[in-house]
Amino acid sequence: MKNQDEITSSSTSDQVEQAMEVSLRPQSLKDYLGQEKVKRELAIYIKAAKQRDEALDHVLLYGPPGLGKTTLAFVIANELGVHLKSTSGPAIEKAGDLVALLSDLEPGDVLFIDEIHRLAKPIEEVLYSAMEDYYVDIVIGEGETTHAVHVPLPPFTLVGATTLAGQLSAPLRDRFGIVEHMEYYTVDELEQIVERSSEVFHATIADDAAHELARRSRGTPRVANRLLKRVRDFAQVKGEQTISYETTKNALHQLQVDDEGLNQTDRKLLRTIIEGYGGGPVGIRTLAANVGEDIETIGSLYEPYLLQHGFILLTPRGRIATEKAYLQLGFPIPHRD
Ligand SMILES: Nc1ncnc2c1ncn2[C@@H]1O[C@H](COP(=O)(O)OP(=O)(O)O)[C@@H](O)[C@H]1O
Ligand SMILES: [Mg+2]
Repeated sequence: MKNQDEITSSSTSDQVEQAMEVSLRPQSLKDYLGQEKVKRELAIYIKAAKQRDEALDHVLLYGPPGLGKTTLAFVIANELGVHLKSTSGPAIEKAGDLVALLSDLEPGDVLFIDEIHRLAKPIEEVLYSAMEDYYVDIVIGEGETTHAVHVPLPPFTLVGATTLAGQLSAPLRDRFGIVEHMEYYTVDELEQIVERSSEVFHATIADDAAHELARRSRGTPRVANRLLKRVRDFAQVKGEQTISYETTKNALHQLQVDDEGLNQTDRKLLRTIIEGYGGGPVGIRTLAANVGEDIETIGSLYEPYLLQHGFILLTPRGRIATEKAYLQLGFPIPHRD
């Protein structure tokens, strides 16, 4: 299974990081922090499906990277008491790959497809009948020996995850009975996640340090966990028993995470709009080319956070930088008329 991070790089340190992510993953709804609305709804649907002894309806989870979609897919399977098979949109190359996965499921199992917006169209079409009526029709053989085969499937639950729900085709989206939007986490929730993660690391962190880390984690558990790891290194080298507020602040400064939690790329984006394009509007293509990231990463990872926190505004002609962005980067606010 490949997610966005795994595609962009696959060095050894990334593998270590992925292993760490797995160890930090909560297993049950009870341990899964935040996303209260999503959890409340899912708890009911899971309970009802279990009472009826049926497969849970298909679930679509969407939202920015690092908010816990993959984690939640595993939690759902765990709460249902079924197996989970995991794959991703780009990993399924042939319809046969998908059919092999589907026919291997036991009744009620979960098939998790990450980055489901990146499924090839012919494969997506195979999914339609699988999702709706639990069968697939596939064509096998070549030339004169070609024939269609009808393959019945066990009832199963498809859990799809996507960072870009807008790129999902309507026929696919409509086949999900349960659609959940993942929200950025509050500082309080992230603080609890930081505390839980430091326990997993056998580290202790001061309350004010955990709060500062949480505040600067872009509302994202994956970022919080990453920063915690780095901050822990700084504390360890300093010989601190408990990770202190001072060390946390210094480490974040070294990591170039600013007091609003913006990282280098966030600031580069804002600077491009302000310095390169007079504050905007700028199209996403231009921005992507200027900061050296692909459009999908800008649209799913950077932009939603900058929008939500009022650093940029979306207009029909592109993105514009807000006064808050000028202030944060230390530029004089221009007079607009
Ligand atoms: N609700 C949560 N509670 C605790 N930790 C979480 C939660 N959501 C995510 N995490 C942590 O963040 C990491 C990234 O989550 P992940 O499920 O991989 O995000 P996504 O699939 O949305 O990109 C996980 O390994 C886990 O450690
Ligand atoms: Mg994921």
